[in-house]
Amino acid sequence: MDPAARHRRRRAILHDLEPGADDFLTAVTEGLSRAEKALPHRFLYDARGSALFDRITRLTEYYPTRTEIGILREQAGEIAERLGPHVQLVELGSGSSVKVRILLDALDQPHAYVPVDISREHLAGAAQAIQDDYPELQVEAIAADFAQPFELPARGAGRRVAFYPGSSVGNFPPAEAEAFLRLWAKRLGPRALMLIGVDLPKGAEVLEPAYDDAQGVTAAFSLNLLARANRELGADFDLAAFRHEARWIEAEGRVAIHLRSLADQAVTVGRNRFALREGERIHVEDSWKYGLEDFRRLASAAGYRSLDVWTDAGGLFSVHLLEVDA
Ligand code: AVJ
Repeated sequence: MDPAARHRRRRAILHDLEPGADDFLTAVTEGLSRAEKALPHRFLYDARGSALFDRITRLTEYYPTRTEIGILREQAGEIAERLGPHVQLVELGSGSSVKVRILLDALDQPHAYVPVDISREHLAGAAQAIQDDYPELQVEAIAADFAQPFELPARGAGRRVAFYPGSSVGNFPPAEAEAFLRLWAKRLGPRALMLIGVDLPKGAEVLEPAYDDAQGVTAAFSLNLLARANRELGADFDLAAFRHEARWIEAEGRVAIHLRSLADQAVTVGRNRFALREGERIHVEDSWKYGLEDFRRLASAAGYRSLDVWTDAGGLFSVHLLEVDA
């Protein structure tokens, strides 16, 4: 960039809501004290976890990312038409903002981009990168926990559109997903739109390798939760004494991810010692999947009307367009 251009460079706005310190030690201690042990999945995404997740999105077995990008590319024109001109695009959990560029490139004079993400560091960089590439766009990032109370910037002449890609909604159990969508319906306001990526149910032969790849990247992603406890809490998890497992539970519609103890062992975390039997599992994460009708029903219960849905030719993934009830 030449010095004159740098001088003209528009700065992305960053609102830092300082999400309350979420206590890792308390969460780990509570989770390991349960009859069915569990670790909170929201702690998967430290710097190391985010880098591993980036690698997951490029794995042959992990179809969701490339499939959703394919749908967005293929349908960008029609989606842009449905959204209309001058929209305020609010992205939930924006991460590295790759997918939103497909929309921004197709939209008619988008007014503003409002990425919302819990990771302030990541957000500031991604927001400025978008600002540099789309100088006409008003970029106003919000560092906050999605579920935290906050207000969105006023929209322009066009509609307010939330973009929630990646089937991240699948990390919540259905009742929590419904509550989350209801909270956002209220925040977005009547007649706002929500463009949301939702992974579809399919056979175990596709789903289980997607969450337990041959290279062991997903296993490293799960095990990083134990490694993080060792790094940050001085815990003494022996990573070699656990095995990552992903199982598709068709009757419930979720891939359940656990770490299974390969031996009778004890782990110290803070001032507590936890015994694990050989074969005992620690629950790490769920990835819920929804058929088209099932997701429409969930969205409807949360206060949205279904306007449209797009899928890929293979029927792997869906992108729903919803409208907040008036
Ligand atoms: C980020 C929640 C959408 O469920 O597919 C991927 C997380 N975990 N591989 C998913 C994940 C292991 C991912 N989401």
